[in-house]
Amino acid sequence: MKYLIDDALVVTMDQNMEILRSCDVLIDNGIISAVGKLDAEQKQNASVINASGKLLMPGLINGHCHVPMTLMRNFADDMDLQTWLFNYIFPAEEKLTSEDIYWGALLGIMEMVATGTTCFIDMYDHMNDLVRAAEESGIRAQLSRGVTNFEDGSDFSEHKGLNEAIDFYRQWNGAANGRITGAFAPHAVYTCSTDFIKAVIKTAQKFDAPIHVHLDETRVEHEDCLAKHRKTPTRYLYDLGLFDRRTVAAHCVWITDEDISLLKDKNVTIAHNPTSNLKLASGVAPVPQALSKGVNVIIGTDGASSNNNLNMFEEIHLASLIHKGVNHDPLLVNAETALRMATTNGAAALGIKNLGIIEEGAKADLILVDMDKPHIMPVHNILSALAYSVQGSDVYMTMVDGRILFENGEFKTIDKEKVRYNIQKCYDRLFR
Ligand code: NI
Repeated sequence: MKYLIDDALVVTMDQNMEILRSCDVLIDNGIISAVGKLDAEQKQNASVINASGKLLMPGLINGHCHVPMTLMRNFADDMDLQTWLFNYIFPAEEKLTSEDIYWGALLGIMEMVATGTTCFIDMYDHMNDLVRAAEESGIRAQLSRGVTNFEDGSDFSEHKGLNEAIDFYRQWNGAANGRITGAFAPHAVYTCSTDFIKAVIKTAQKFDAPIHVHLDETRVEHEDCLAKHRKTPTRYLYDLGLFDRRTVAAHCVWITDEDISLLKDKNVTIAHNPTSNLKLASGVAPVPQALSKGVNVIIGTDGASSNNNLNMFEEIHLASLIHKGVNHDPLLVNAETALRMATTNGAAALGIKNLGIIEEGAKADLILVDMDKPHIMPVHNILSALAYSVQGSDVYMTMVDGRILFENGEFKTIDKEKVRYNIQKCYDRLFR
């Protein structure tokens, strides 16, 4: 399919942060094939999307999520992480069936594409159902089967979760024209024994696969790890060799200056989840310090049970504000930095070239934002408008791999009514 996006204001997110006005963008076969003023011949046979009054930018990359947790939205709130996770979330998750995961994931994907997210990084269980939702919807995703094991041991060849993770990676990495990629996901230091983490690292090495892990999210995790291993969680995983794989480490709220240097040394990406960390009162991650040392930082929503939405524009907004506030420094995490964390930095974390940017040859993962809104005008500064004024609900169109998933309030690949009906059914069975 060939599309012409006609007369857009384009935020390219290229290195120079170039902004193009009244610009045409041609999309052919999933790739941005031309950017600029195009002649009649180039426009031939293209389906035209009128973008006047709209802003075109790369789609947002949600750096850390558990998408089926939409089912537990507003289910367990106003409590600390340990209580929330062990007393509410883990017991509820034990009841989830394949159907729950599929519909919960579709609901989350609907919310994401409607608010400008074109790609998400996720770890969860029942991955074959989650990936079915991602595959059918057309969204891009890096997915992994989260694994836990509390006891040490020498042989994990019969471990159910790890075997499912291996099967999942084998079957799905690189699927759907490369839209779906895989990773291995030891859940966290406090849910995995040392021997088990070693086994997961060995498995990831065997498949040359990346890692997705929760890291140093709470003070309890930090202090327990110090007491048990005499090391910070970061130092502990560093010494085990986990970071020798390309890694996305979610949270990193309690990391020390030395930890930041270790993460930089191994090019680990930090997935910053401002809402989730605030809501669970985990703390505020030292993002400015990590950025100043050159660590790649991305933004995630975390699951909808600790957020309680998957709206990346809200996360961009918060990520740019909270560090100013807690550090008493208005210069920290400016609008451009926050937008980079949600676009280009996400592409770098995934190791996908030509993603998170509007330029010739890039993947056509992009969004149109309707700027003709009272809460956005007048636009003195385009980047400020995006970081501080635009809401997820201002997204007009979302395209992934050159395919329109959402346009003018309509879902093109997902049956909204069917999702609504089935979510209610899942909710009634699980919680009423
Ligand atoms: Ni998480």
